[in-house]
Amino acid sequence: MSSEAPPPEEFDVVLGGGFASGALEGLGDSGFDDVPDTEQIDVGDLEGDPALEFRKTLGMFATGVTVITTQVGEQVHGMTANAFMSVSLQPPLVLISVDRRARLNPLLREGTRYGISVLERSQSELSDHFAGRASARSEEPRFEIVRDTPLVEGALAHLVARVVRSYWGGDHSLFLGQVEYVRYGEGEPLLFHGGRYERLAADPRLFSALPAELLEPILTRGREVTFAAGETLMTRGEIADTLMLVTGGSVVVERQGRRLTLGVGALVGEIEVLDPGAGRLATITAENETACIVVGREELVAALESNPRAAIALLEILSSRFRETA
Ligand SMILES: Cc1cc2nc3c(=O)[nH]c(=O)nc-3n(C[C@H](O)[C@H](O)[C@H](O)COP(=O)(O)O)c2cc1C
Repeated sequence: MSSEAPPPEEFDVVLGGGFASGALEGLGDSGFDDVPDTEQIDVGDLEGDPALEFRKTLGMFATGVTVITTQVGEQVHGMTANAFMSVSLQPPLVLISVDRRARLNPLLREGTRYGISVLERSQSELSDHFAGRASARSEEPRFEIVRDTPLVEGALAHLVARVVRSYWGGDHSLFLGQVEYVRYGEGEPLLFHGGRYERLAADPRLFSALPAELLEPILTRGREVTFAAGETLMTRGEIADTLMLVTGGSVVVERQGRRLTLGVGALVGEIEVLDPGAGRLATITAENETACIVVGREELVAALESNPRAAIALLEILSSRFRETA
């Protein structure tokens, strides 16, 4: 048996959900005993070293980033990991893959608890810190202890799991954990893809991200239009030549499986008006009688020509979005 530690015959009931002791029996039969000898991976048309191309191929799988933590005596240990996955809902199980050389590895065994902190988009320096990389971060990370397990403060989600099985995973070890505690908050995750950090699609606001003193002169060039309940303001796919500010009532925005309602103060059509040929991104309908200020593309261009500061501010907003994902 190649498991790193023999699976326990039984383990305690640790969840309020009422799993009978031993309910996971048999899970230790990994069937990994007869792994074939290492063969060169066929990397097709890729020209690099096969081991490197293998790593790069794996890197195409976008993941979140977690910090796995555990406490031994008074000592807290954390390691950045993206090899985290959900395994089972009933019973609640998760899995992590830890390098055999990592200091965390010998600290985990059946019965020990580990914390999983799912990092938030602004926590890339924390990720570097727990990966042993040089980081611009100056302050020490802060932990809170839940069920005797350290969790990284400020993370998007937290789980505490207790190791119920560990498996051989080549140069890594797999630790199956039964989840005892979960919590999540509002926010966006830090992502990892192609060997670098990424974030979810940037903020879609454009004109509405302008400071009021630059936006107002643009809007004053528009005209007021009232739409009856159910009337269409914009249709997905059509050539876009206006942006609209909702000044009364509310509108329903529908785009590829998503539907949301926007009220007074919302700007719609603000991205397409700068790229009209690509067509409207959404169909927008008046939910009730709705008043809008409608600014046509020509008025908009004239407003930007007469106020280059507004044009430059738009370029700055766009370039900051590129920086976010670069
Ligand atoms: C984004 C990211 C994801 C990582 N994922 C894992 C992982 O899933 N498993 C692992 O063993 N190491 C992973 N690492 C590497 C470890 O964080 C790193 O080797 C760490 O220094 C090992 O801990 P140690 O310094 O205590 O030995 C990852 C690193 C980064 C930056």
